[in-house]
Amino acid sequence: MFDVVIKNANIFRKNQYIQAEIGIIGEKIAKIGKTLSGEVKINAKGTIVLPAGIDIHVHFRDWKEKEKETWVTGSMAALRGGIGVVVDQPNTLPLVDSMNRMDERIELAEKKSLVDFRINLGLTKKNFHLLKETENKMLNTAIGEVFLQHSNPNLQIDYSMLKTIREKVRDIITVHAEDPNLIQDNEGPYHIVRPPEAEIQAVKKCLHLGVFHFCHISTFNAMSTVIQSPSTFEVTPHHLFLDNKVAITPEFNVNPPLRDSTNRDKILKNFLNIPVIASDHAPHTIEEKKEGAPGFPNVELTYPLLMFMVKEKILTLKDVVDKLARNPARLFGFDDYGSIQPGKYASLAIFNFKKVQKISGEKLISKCKFTPFEGFKAIFPEFVLIRGKMAYSDNEFFIKPGYGKEA
Ligand code: DOR
Ligand code: ZN
Repeated sequence: MFDVVIKNANIFRKNQYIQAEIGIIGEKIAKIGKTLSGEVKINAKGTIVLPAGIDIHVHFRDWKEKEKETWVTGSMAALRGGIGVVVDQPNTLPLVDSMNRMDERIELAEKKSLVDFRINLGLTKKNFHLLKETENKMLNTAIGEVFLQHSNPNLQIDYSMLKTIREKVRDIITVHAEDPNLIQDNEGPYHIVRPPEAEIQAVKKCLHLGVFHFCHISTFNAMSTVIQSPSTFEVTPHHLFLDNKVAITPEFNVNPPLRDSTNRDKILKNFLNIPVIASDHAPHTIEEKKEGAPGFPNVELTYPLLMFMVKEKILTLKDVVDKLARNPARLFGFDDYGSIQPGKYASLAIFNFKKVQKISGEKLISKCKFTPFEGFKAIFPEFVLIRGKMAYSDNEFFIKPGYGKEA
């Protein structure tokens, strides 16, 4: 007898569709089989059952920037988008730049988050003498986001520091690679003042220093360079699907900026070679967006946009699941997440290909109501389960802030 059984499931597993039932006991998948009996039954007829996504790059703000986003609104947005685990970046106010601050951030997320999470530590000029301590606490987990260029100078480090850090720690270091010397200034459309060369050169210099995970790679040139190295990278939905022709108002500012359509087409054509898709969910108030604050609220839209691309046969389901669930789980050590197998957490996103919706900024759960994907078609999940619990369906949330735990 299972606690929950997903009936009539069309499961995408080991790269193929199988018709079966999923038996859940507690938080985990216990069995995949035929005619299982359980207390609670979920009828998944007509849908496709996938692992919930793992978004390794979000900025959930909170603290002194609650007007932009909070852990509650950010994690609700994640759920609506079929995301079960998020990795939060450290350019918060105040910064996550010490182990004490990290503990405070974990405590906050434990109280407020609906989805599971991990917090990244920011490495700065001031804290890199603490590396030993960091290593002990976060062995083999992500340590970034390390910024080579950032509007907050406290968070900006240089190549020689990055070299020292790389030599000292074994953790994954995630780098925002834009070379500050090649960025003119922040006045003007970002795609003009932050040229592709800034990313291409920064990536090349980093690769001389060691192995890294590169955040939000936006140029095909940098992508091709990283592919030939042992380093890994992520691409955002905006760099996959948008180009700088749309960037006509300051709201379209993002770091790194949108590139030209030739570049975007090459990235999309080489989707297979991208290890991870991450949203870089970077919410701001509508007033700040109008003044050019960089970033888009994407955690809610990444899986839905990609699922529509699967329906249109532009992407394959296998590739999407690999890049949004399986690969991030494998590369970042989320061992209990990211695939549908007995023993893994029953964190699932259940989609119906027939239910296509148009994206509307106004309807976003994120506090940031501007999206560059206004009017784009998307397939949002019908149901989302987080560790065995029905968490979200049809604009209703069935779990409370604090259900999420450190992954
Ligand atoms: O567009 C961006 N926004 N890029 C970043 O690297 C930071 C982010 C933010 O925190 O707003
Ligand atoms: Zn970011």
